[in-house]
Amino acid sequence: MAPMTRARATNDALAPTPAHALYYAQRAGAGLIITEGTWVSTQAIGASNVPGIYTEPQTAAWAEVTEAVHQAGGESSPNSATPARNPTPTTSAVPGPPDPQRSTPGNSGSPPPV
Ligand SMILES: Cc1cc2nc3c(=O)[nH]c(=O)nc-3n(C[C@H](O)[C@H](O)[C@H](O)COP(=O)(O)O)c2cc1C
Repeated sequence: MAPMTRARATNDALAPTPAHALYYAQRAGAGLIITEGTWVSTQAIGASNVPGIYTEPQTAAWAEVTEAVHQAGGESSPNSATPARNPTPTTSAVPGPPDPQRSTPGNSGSPPPV
């Protein structure tokens, strides 16, 4: 199954939910599922309500999705996602968990002024 963004991670942790596990398990018959694109850091966020895979709660939630797919007889692989070089200030300001990379002095993680 080709990756398809669903924007259903409507939680502050930007973690996949039981609805994600159900959605992918229902499609296990596809054989190999490539998941929707999932952000690899807070700096990679490029759209609202798309899940990430850069915190422990997120990876734990993705493990539950994977287990649901396996239980249904399928296989899945995450689709790593980053926006293009210049996410808009609006989308890059989507709140998420703290990112240690952003605490580096001189690297606020903020997008350049436009
Ligand atoms: C609504 C929608 C969401 C998509 N989301 C993703 C995505 O998250 N990651 C990705 O790599 N491709 C994404 N795609 C691209 C599809 O996986 C696929 O490559 C594209 O639709 C072309 O499919 P086709 O070769 O069967 O025509 C998305 C496509 C659509 C229509």
